[in-house]
Amino acid sequence: MTVTQNRAVESETSAAREKVLEVKNLRIHYETPRGDVIAVNGINFHVYKGETLGLVGESGCGKSTATAGILRLVQPPGRIVDGEVLLNGVDLLKLNESELRQKRWRDASLIPQGAMNSLNPVMKVKEQIGDGITTHEPGMSRQAVKERILELLTLVGLPSRVYDLYPHELSGGMKQRVCIAMGIALNPSMIIADEPTSALDVVVQRVVAQTLLDVKKKLGVSMILIGHDMGLQAQLVDRIAVMYAGNIVEIAPVRSLFEEPMHPYTQLLIASIPSIKERKPLKITEGLTHDLRNPPPGCIFQFRCPQVMEHCRKITPPLRELKPEHYVACHLYE
Ligand SMILES: Nc1ncnc2c1ncn2[C@@H]1O[C@H](COP(=O)(O)OP(=O)(O)OP(=O)(O)O)[C@@H](O)[C@H]1O
Ligand code: SF4
Ligand SMILES: [Mg+2]
Repeated sequence: MTVTQNRAVESETSAAREKVLEVKNLRIHYETPRGDVIAVNGINFHVYKGETLGLVGESGCGKSTATAGILRLVQPPGRIVDGEVLLNGVDLLKLNESELRQKRWRDASLIPQGAMNSLNPVMKVKEQIGDGITTHEPGMSRQAVKERILELLTLVGLPSRVYDLYPHELSGGMKQRVCIAMGIALNPSMIIADEPTSALDVVVQRVVAQTLLDVKKKLGVSMILIGHDMGLQAQLVDRIAVMYAGNIVEIAPVRSLFEEPMHPYTQLLIASIPSIKERKPLKITEGLTHDLRNPPPGCIFQFRCPQVMEHCRKITPPLRELKPEHYVACHLYE
């Protein structure tokens, strides 16, 4: 089979895959006295049924805001200014509050950044997980709720005695697994996990990440996994979306992204992964991100791009599919 035929097959395969989530032109601003911070600048992406999409990018690039926006959980002064969020074909941005409550947690759930530190210190694990279940399933018997909680604890690899413990009696990794159990309690078809392994030591990070993947496989759900650790992402996700200053600059299958990164920012991110086999000077990306209240005309990466050209300062490069499933926003490939 020729490369062209191979690509045609790949394209057909991706066209045939079912999209659980489609985000179109999502735009989220934070109002401040000195003007709106454009935290998410009209992003487009989709998640296929059963896949894990990684979302990476430096601190402040808008990962948490974008994913909170999917479930309309952006807190004031943040507000969704524009866009569509189609979850199983239904636009979540058009639902009223009670319709949305039906979808949240049941169809898609968010394990927020720092979730393990937000567990209520005076509530036992059984109450924290149980609360979420009974809010959405008020008719469920106490015995059924108990059985469901114990089932969830097993699913995330925790012993049943955790049922009766308080958060302070658990290690960081165990607390994070309780948060995962809360996230999957209502069998959602989509889980969004915002940096579920940060603030854990390296070994526990791997264990928690593996727990998430096991849960995902057992339940057959789709997942968005936000993270800083490119190495961990390489092992865990199917495709990666790279964000910079509120924009998605590249999305590709994980292998393609690591073997042939196309956007200069992705190239710098990958070049900065430390390697013990080949000691090299750490790549530092010089320059500052622009003020998010006042984005420049043209490419948003122009101030830090080693390959910036004259027209990058005038014309915004659109996110285009340059190879099957490999999307890049950069003038270098025109
Ligand atoms: N309440 C707020 N008011 C003004 N700006 C805000 C507010 N919350 C977030 N922002 C800005 O929105 C941008 C996106 O923030 P966000 O927390 O989504 O980034 P992130 O990629 O999740 O970062 P991190 O990796 O540190 O979690 C940042 O520039 C941040 O300063
Ligand atoms: S469009 Fe220009 S400035 Fe932007 S990433 Fe590509 S080469 Fe760099
Ligand atoms: Mg964040």
